[in-house]
Amino acid sequence: MKIEKIRKDFPILNAREGGEPIIYFDNACQSLRPQSVIEAMDDYYRKYSACEGRSIHKFGEKVTRKCEESRKIIAKFIGAKKEEEIIFTRNTTEGINLVAKSLKLQKGDVIILSDKEHNSNLIPWQIKSKEENISLVISPSREDNTFDLEKFKLLMNEKVKLVSVVHTSNLDGVSNPIKEIIEIAHNYGAKVLVDGAQSASHQKINVAKLDVDFMAFSGHKMLGPSGTGFLYGKYDLLKKLNPFIVGGDTVEYSTYDKHQLLLPPKKFEAGLQDYAGIIGLAEAVKYLQKIGFKKIAKQEAVLNKFITKEIINLPGLKIIGPQDYNKRGGIVSFFVEELDTHQIAVMLDSTNNIMVRSGQFCVHSWFANRQIKNAVRVSLAFYNTLEEAQIFVENLKKIIKLN
Ligand SMILES: Cc1ncc(COP(=O)(O)O)c(C=O)c1O
Repeated sequence: MKIEKIRKDFPILNAREGGEPIIYFDNACQSLRPQSVIEAMDDYYRKYSACEGRSIHKFGEKVTRKCEESRKIIAKFIGAKKEEEIIFTRNTTEGINLVAKSLKLQKGDVIILSDKEHNSNLIPWQIKSKEENISLVISPSREDNTFDLEKFKLLMNEKVKLVSVVHTSNLDGVSNPIKEIIEIAHNYGAKVLVDGAQSASHQKINVAKLDVDFMAFSGHKMLGPSGTGFLYGKYDLLKKLNPFIVGGDTVEYSTYDKHQLLLPPKKFEAGLQDYAGIIGLAEAVKYLQKIGFKKIAKQEAVLNKFITKEIINLPGLKIIGPQDYNKRGGIVSFFVEELDTHQIAVMLDSTNNIMVRSGQFCVHSWFANRQIKNAVRVSLAFYNTLEEAQIFVENLKKIIKLN
């Protein structure tokens, strides 16, 4: 993979802060965007900025065609059987909330989550469990923070109606064995929602082969525009769900006292949408496909291996999750005894424009349970280089020595 060539596709990588290049290691929050995504959005605003499906003039028709194309491209990308199984959302959070608000459960039913869920896959279920008298059960990880299938099996029974788990954790980069989780859950008649926020830009996903019921994604974590996302749902299940936001674009007709909802996905996409975002997101998918997941995973592993090897034995430093870089995709999260993690992040940023994340990464529940204050997260992408990783390591070593 010619990284230097790839980097030319990302205009922001040429940005300078204080005259110096930037090192962007916060890809789990938002990835950077290639020129093709920016141009597709720019094109929409400059050349045909109308709405989809309403107006029959030339602009309206072009937007409709482009959005339909985007839905098809995204459906194919994740292996959905039909494009009607893709609902455009603003992000993963909205996709999960859509299911949480729409899925009919009964008092006494059980929902299982893992103990490493992002707040977006925890809070909606906590609220649902309180409002509808549903039990929320947490499946505990193994000692090394990987998913414990044996413990999960012990928690399963006929009362469990939904299992909602993250595919790749934004805390430590570990990917859960979702194929096995889905099979086990289905054996008990439970539905499965997978939070795909962190996996879609790092590994090939095939929702039909996985047989997953719902899977939520964020466009901005997969080279797409900010505030874009999509929810996959099996068509028959989507038909049965009631939308939780309704209004314009969700109905076939209305009278003063009734209305007829459209079929999925339209009944879930209320009001004007982010058309530039939807069109840009399809370009992001095309770009990911052009690079290919083998090359993406290989580069992330090279970088993760180097960083892990260099920092694992630094005094007081503890890597969160498995110590083997192979099990942590593109993420290295760590904390250093006696050192404030925000301070580390600020120092990295101020010395060499090294942008990392510090804090609890919206997985507060895990930190509270382990009584760990917070951590630094380095999240890598295929456009990051070994040279950047070296600069990061040198800086981190200096920071730790200084204290
Ligand atoms: C694993 C995981 N789930 C859900 C989310 C929420 O994504 P969004 O803010 O795009 O809705 C994130 C964001 O960091 C995440 O990492």
